[in-house]
Amino acid sequence: MRLLINDLKRHNEALAGELRGALERVLARGWFILGPEVEAFEREFAQACAASHCVGVANGTDALELAVRALGIGPGDEVATVANAGGYSTVAIRAAGATPVYVDVEPGSLNMDAAALERALSPSTRAVIATHLYGRMADMPRLMEVAERAGVRVIEDCAQAHGAARDSRPAGSWGVAGCFSFYPTKNLGALGDGGAVVTSDAALAERVRRLRQYGWPEKYRAELPGGRNSRLDEMQAAVLRAKLPHLAAFNERRRAIARAYHEALRGAPLALPEGFGEDYVAHLYVVRTARRDALRAALSAHGIIAEVHYPVPDHWQEPWRAPAVLPVTEQAAPEVLTLPCFPEMTDAEVALVGRAVLEFLES
Ligand SMILES: Cc1ncc(COP(=O)(O)O)c(C=O)c1O
Repeated sequence: MRLLINDLKRHNEALAGELRGALERVLARGWFILGPEVEAFEREFAQACAASHCVGVANGTDALELAVRALGIGPGDEVATVANAGGYSTVAIRAAGATPVYVDVEPGSLNMDAAALERALSPSTRAVIATHLYGRMADMPRLMEVAERAGVRVIEDCAQAHGAARDSRPAGSWGVAGCFSFYPTKNLGALGDGGAVVTSDAALAERVRRLRQYGWPEKYRAELPGGRNSRLDEMQAAVLRAKLPHLAAFNERRRAIARAYHEALRGAPLALPEGFGEDYVAHLYVVRTARRDALRAALSAHGIIAEVHYPVPDHWQEPWRAPAVLPVTEQAAPEVLTLPCFPEMTDAEVALVGRAVLEFLES
């Protein structure tokens, strides 16, 4: 047996008819770039996110970078972000020419800590990128309050949180913009790369729209500096349209798996994710233990592939070294371990993983 943290082959088999239908529709039409599928997906996804606009782009990192650029942020500006979310916001901020300033996270959720954000703000801070890590929404009411008091814009990194909500407000509708990745393993994933920026600010949406295509307001007339090619394509948009109506059910199944893990592992010497409401879409089911590497090896001996999200905080990565001191981030990095969690996983597999974890902890 070999159990992956996310088995996309099963996912594609479950949806094979709908995916083929979507791809064949695009083939038959013969229109591959910025056509009716992208337009329809942008409408449908904006609605799903309770935003007025959605702009499809090439991937989630570009979504973040273009949102930063569209806010007029660049050299000399600081953008506050977390250092425990895989480095994507760092890449985006730096690509825009701005400087990331790292903020520590809450010990429970590992999402940005609002009090730490307040301490990290400086007169040069122009924006905050708040990541909804592992599919758990950050504390948006408090983060928005701190940012608004300082006159700083908030961009949500929703790459792991499609369909999550807090107080019935979807991820992506709290800040000035929400940035999504449709990388294949995401809760809403394409069959390749894809991304989107959602916003209810019409002018911001228009700037992202121009930046994703050479700075053009219309064909062959460049107006906005910083533009390039970062388009979502018709094939991916058609695939995303086929999957979007299933997103709520996928998320519910992920939550059910997280709940089952919780039942199986409660009381064990292991820190577990807490709370399985609308604010958690279980993109990754991440436990914490000081014996992380040994647990990972023990699971691997059973054919269970557990992974680490993420092993090295951004401020310790060679090209981005920064003098930040982030005790919670630094303590969590060697402890986090992601267990398999995907909608097509069976109850028997969840029970098997639970038993393998307990067996290791009792050894
Ligand atoms: C939190 C987060 N932000 C941004 C990204 C970047 O998305 P992409 O891989 O589509 O560039 C990812 C995923 O890869 C992610 O997990």
